[in-house]
Amino acid sequence: MLGPPGAGKGTQAERFAREHGLPKISTGDILREAVQSGSDLGRVVKAVMERGELVSDELITGIVRERLGRPDVVGGFVLDGFPRTVPQAEALDGIVAGRDPLIVIEMQVPDEELVRRVQGRRVCKACGTNVSAFGANPSTVARCERCGGELVTRSDDTEAVVRERLRVYWRDTRPMIEYYSHRPTFRVIDGAQEPEQVRQALVAAVMGVAKAAGLSVPPGARV
Ligand code: AP5
Repeated sequence: MLGPPGAGKGTQAERFAREHGLPKISTGDILREAVQSGSDLGRVVKAVMERGELVSDELITGIVRERLGRPDVVGGFVLDGFPRTVPQAEALDGIVAGRDPLIVIEMQVPDEELVRRVQGRRVCKACGTNVSAFGANPSTVARCERCGGELVTRSDDTEAVVRERLRVYWRDTRPMIEYYSHRPTFRVIDGAQEPEQVRQALVAAVMGVAKAAGLSVPPGARV
């Protein structure tokens, strides 16, 4: 699942994975958990993430390689936030060589909508659920609806850092999308619609690719 910061990758990946019984692998979540735990990895990546830059290809590829070596991904998986550079995409092709082809979905949303969404995002400290604070009474967004946990703002969701993340996206990640764009398993969806419409577009895109490629979804979906 590819797209700029705030495109809705996490929101849609989480739902698609849950509804199709697949593990969701989010490199952003893995890195944030490392920061929160105070591990060596967390200490290395904290400042990079807070500046809105990308952690090194070598480091993130090693994390994904290890994660995709675990048994729960045999029936398929949803990747959110990886790859983000051409070297990462090339490494991923090597990691999944011999498996069903990757289904690659790009979510497109205009930049100003992305900045608006990210600044309005709150995240549950306990379970990681994403909440949009827009249009809501502040008292109703103080606690997570799912688990009652405290809602906080991500440290990289300030306007200045979001604009830097967007700059990095256009510089490093957009060229990588060209890497995939000629594959028959690549699709673009409009992420600037209501979440339910985006969900339907995502499912239609994945099912369309799977049917054309003779893949069974689920199981065996990789988005
Ligand atoms: P990561 O966590 O992956 O951040 P990101 O790509 O910037 O994406 P976001 O999580 O901000 O947005 P999203 O597209 O998931 O949108 P969401 O569903 O949350 O990465 C963070 C950092 O980690 C990076 O900056 C980098 O430093 C590092 N990193 C991670 N992976 C890396 C890699 N591969 N290589 C190197 N470094 C890496 O939605 C956003 C908001 O909008 C939410 O509030 C949501 O409720 C709302 N929303 C969602 N859909 C809609 C909709 N349709 N309409 C209205 N609002 C919506």
